[in-house]
Amino acid sequence: MQLNPPARVLSGMRPTGRLHLGHYHGVLKNWLELQHEHPCFFFVADWHALTTRYDAPEQIPQHTRDMLTDWLAVGINPNEATLFIQSHIPEHAELHLLLSMLTPLSWLERVPSYKDQQQKLHEKDLTTYGFLGYPLLQSADILLYRAGLVPVGEDQVAHVELTREIARRFNHIYGRDDDFVAKAEQAIRKLGKKNTQLYRNYRKAYQEQGDADALATAQALLNHQQHLSLTERERLLGYLEGGGKLILPEPQPLLTRAPRMPGLDGQKMSKSYANTIALDATPETVSQKIRTMPTDPARVRRHDPGDPQQCSVWSFHEIYSDAATRDWVQRGCRSADIGCVACKQPVIDAMVQELTPIQTRAAEYAAQPELVQNILREGCERASDVARETMADVRHAMALS
Ligand code: TRP
Ligand code: SF4
Repeated sequence: MQLNPPARVLSGMRPTGRLHLGHYHGVLKNWLELQHEHPCFFFVADWHALTTRYDAPEQIPQHTRDMLTDWLAVGINPNEATLFIQSHIPEHAELHLLLSMLTPLSWLERVPSYKDQQQKLHEKDLTTYGFLGYPLLQSADILLYRAGLVPVGEDQVAHVELTREIARRFNHIYGRDDDFVAKAEQAIRKLGKKNTQLYRNYRKAYQEQGDADALATAQALLNHQQHLSLTERERLLGYLEGGGKLILPEPQPLLTRAPRMPGLDGQKMSKSYANTIALDATPETVSQKIRTMPTDPARVRRHDPGDPQQCSVWSFHEIYSDAATRDWVQRGCRSADIGCVACKQPVIDAMVQELTPIQTRAAEYAAQPELVQNILREGCERASDVARETMADVRHAMALS
């Protein structure tokens, strides 16, 4: 997708501490590319961490530092991307509060992650106001920077979708431009009684609920009207979709293209499954973890043939190995010419090679906390400038200025 000028990109991560290869291949490599092509804002969502960890906040500051160090270590460049911490920009909270005034409860209750997470983390009481508001806080994060693109994983698409609906509702309620509206209303009168009512209903259904069918039907209705001038038709078409000023533009989700890196057991790589390789894993740890990885269960003995498709090691070859090595694995596994220990070695070597420069840079940043402090200070200043501008418009729209 090429937007002109490049759209602002915004994404956040909850501070979970040291990152692992799943984050690297699934998220950070994508950020590394985006930072060259777009103005990027990347932040630590420490308030979001509190929604589920309100009872144990002590670790959040250390996790925040570790995560920032890892971002820098993988090559997120503070001269290209703006890095900051959510809680350092109080406008996130103000926008969250103001948006909460116009957000129907049902919109939050129907977000799939709400019930899912409550069930998954059932040992914790998540029937809180803050947890219900999690996706609305995320909407505030996104809209505060008027981001056009939000790189996220599959599980977060519903949150971006909610953000679009909130933005639409906000613009609908507060984005009126008096003169434009007056002229549009004049043109509506030419539609006749029945069509006027239809037009209003479709417009409402589209603007408040995002009903695309209603939009298409209303457009067809306008195109069939004989009594409208060209200007009036154009005006009514425009009025259908927006009407006034776009105070908060609707963002698009940007799904990560990168191949998903599975964990050591073939499930999604995640700290809670204890199947990760951390970015700070030593060569010994990498080697030990890969060597003890389960392989195709059909290969009980060395001379039993196997099938790479049944083996998680193969997914790593798909990420790390060149065509020749992959071919060697495919043949050698199926013919039992190679053993699993030999098969795993190129993966171990490639991972160690990938991690070594990251760890060198992480050590450099860890040794210079004041450098990281300065990066953050500058990032927060830049973020704050944008946030202040948006909030001035939002307050004005809501008669608060
Ligand atoms: N909810 C996101 C996650 O769990 C983190 C997040 C918070 C975020 N605010 C955001 C992501 C804004 C994108 C944009 O991964
Ligand atoms: Fe897996 Fe490689 Fe063993 Fe085949 S040879 S089962 S691909 S580790």
